[in-house]
Amino acid sequence: MTQSDAHNSVTPILRAEGIVAGYDGPPILNDVEVSVNPAELTVILGPNGAGKSTLAKVIIGLLSAKEGKVFLGDENVLGLGPHQLVRKGLAYLPQVANIFDEMTVLENLEMGGFTYRGDLPQRIQEVFSIFPDLADARHRKAAQLSGGQQRMVALARMLMTDPKVAILDEPTAGLSPLYSERVWQQVARVRDMGVGMLVVEQNAKMAMAHADRAYLLAQGRNAISGNAKELAAREEVAAILVG
Ligand SMILES: Nc1ncnc2c1ncn2[C@@H]1O[C@H](COP(=O)(O)OP(=O)(O)OP(=O)(O)O)[C@@H](O)[C@H]1O
Ligand SMILES: [Mg+2]
Repeated sequence: MTQSDAHNSVTPILRAEGIVAGYDGPPILNDVEVSVNPAELTVILGPNGAGKSTLAKVIIGLLSAKEGKVFLGDENVLGLGPHQLVRKGLAYLPQVANIFDEMTVLENLEMGGFTYRGDLPQRIQEVFSIFPDLADARHRKAAQLSGGQQRMVALARMLMTDPKVAILDEPTAGLSPLYSERVWQQVARVRDMGVGMLVVEQNAKMAMAHADRAYLLAQGRNAISGNAKELAAREEVAAILVG
């Protein structure tokens, strides 16, 4: 069995297909598909303006699609709003992640767990066990942390809902290469705990080094997709990424 056969035999935790969507004017996305398996890290790559964030916004229900379907497990969830989707196990880290600066790390996590129906203190402990540095800084105000640590707070807060699948829009934007690497390691760790991860990224090299699967978007359409390491080795990929 080839690797793509193995991929196809698993039921995706998230699948968008035939997505046509945009703002005023002609559609930005045309017949776009993306699929995320449980415990897999999938990245969406593409040049500026390719439509990556637009696709994320359609999936999370912030932007309505003109056509297409979004499946969360077996359920077509297109048309549901962000709050309903969060309750169904979909988490979202926007491109501009806002944390509460004047609150402590712990308070930020408590806010993130506002809708969590399980044992909140236990969930906080679980999330701190994924982010030990944050556990040490739990009583510090987010504003006092470095930019990299603040990004970790945003990630940790997103996980408070104990999602089945998470969409992260450029989680390493503006971070040093060293801290970007640490964010990727944390993303991979969450993947290893069973969460399907869909990450939008500009830095294709770093993304493909960590991802299982990659989708390249160009001008609002699927260009190439497949095993991330195989794609990283293909020559045409670089040309698509610069647009
Ligand atoms: N709120 C909006 N209203 C109108 N047009 C928008 C809006 N947001 C994005 N666009 C347009 O949609 C297209 C795709 O934008 P999108 O933000 O999805 O790209 P992206 O791939 O995420 O780019 P980047 O890598 O710069 O984040 C662009 O042409 C952009 O100008
Ligand atoms: Mg974007």
